Amino acid sequence: MAKIIDGKQISQQIKDELKEEVKKLKAEGRNCCLAVIQVGNDPASSVYVGNKKKACAYIGIESRAYELPEETTEEELLSLIEDLNQDSGVHGILCQLPLPAHIREEKVIDAISPEKDVDGFHPQNVGALVIGRKGFVSCTPAGIIELLKRSGIEIEGKRCVMIGRSNIVGKPMALLMLRENATVTVCHSRTRNLKEICKEADILIAAIGKPQQITGEYIKEGTVVIDVGIHRNADNKLCGDVAFAEAEPLASAITPVPGGVGPMTIAMLMKNCVEAMKNGSADK
Ligand code: GUN
Repeated sequence: MAKIIDGKQISQQIKDELKEEVKKLKAEGRNCCLAVIQVGNDPASSVYVGNKKKACAYIGIESRAYELPEETTEEELLSLIEDLNQDSGVHGILCQLPLPAHIREEKVIDAISPEKDVDGFHPQNVGALVIGRKGFVSCTPAGIIELLKRSGIEIEGKRCVMIGRSNIVGKPMALLMLRENATVTVCHSRTRNLKEICKEADILIAAIGKPQQITGEYIKEGTVVIDVGIHRNADNKLCGDVAFAEAEPLASAITPVPGGVGPMTIAMLMKNCVEAMKNGSADK
């Protein structure tokens, strides 16, 4: 029987710690503000953005919502970001992805000031992570590190297998595990012998984007299994990249879906916002 890693509870703990911190900062007259931009009305994005605003309200972070129509031009969006970069009352800027096809994601990511890039997507922040300098780290991978640490799971010296190489999860996750002194293997859709490689993992992190692909055959007994995926199965129930019922009896610890990695992303975003404010990118 695996220990179930409760991301809901751990994220709540982080949010409560932040709430206390924000209260103290407010008493010193320091206010924290996140600008949240959404272009168009993709239903999944609307849910994520709504949850981010709710978390801000809970912690005491001001959130400024910019809900722009689908037809917004790239130029208009870049101009808004530039205004927010210059606005000393705004500490963090988040532009929800994906963007409509006519807007180049790269241009938008590059336009956000690295000091306000609470998503950790700007090349300067990604580069800082690569060479071990201070900077904002992508929220989902940062949240996974918190999950492991707060669950008392040692990372140093462990064999970590990361399945997935996206800019948002796989690549930064691999770098963070390396920073924690794990031995890291990154697998992806072209990897040969995926099962065999996964079976060598002490910590297996799945971010493949395919429902329940990681069955028991991929899992060594005693492995820590972290599931980043979120999908709806044939019964319209939420599931991850891991076949939980098969993995759970083998794993020593496992994240459920929902209630595992998901809630951590927002908690880490909030942490980055408070950090951005403390770094004093505004109110100077
Ligand atoms: N879309 C899916 N995940 C994310 C995220 O973490 N940040 C932003 N900005 N967009 C997303």
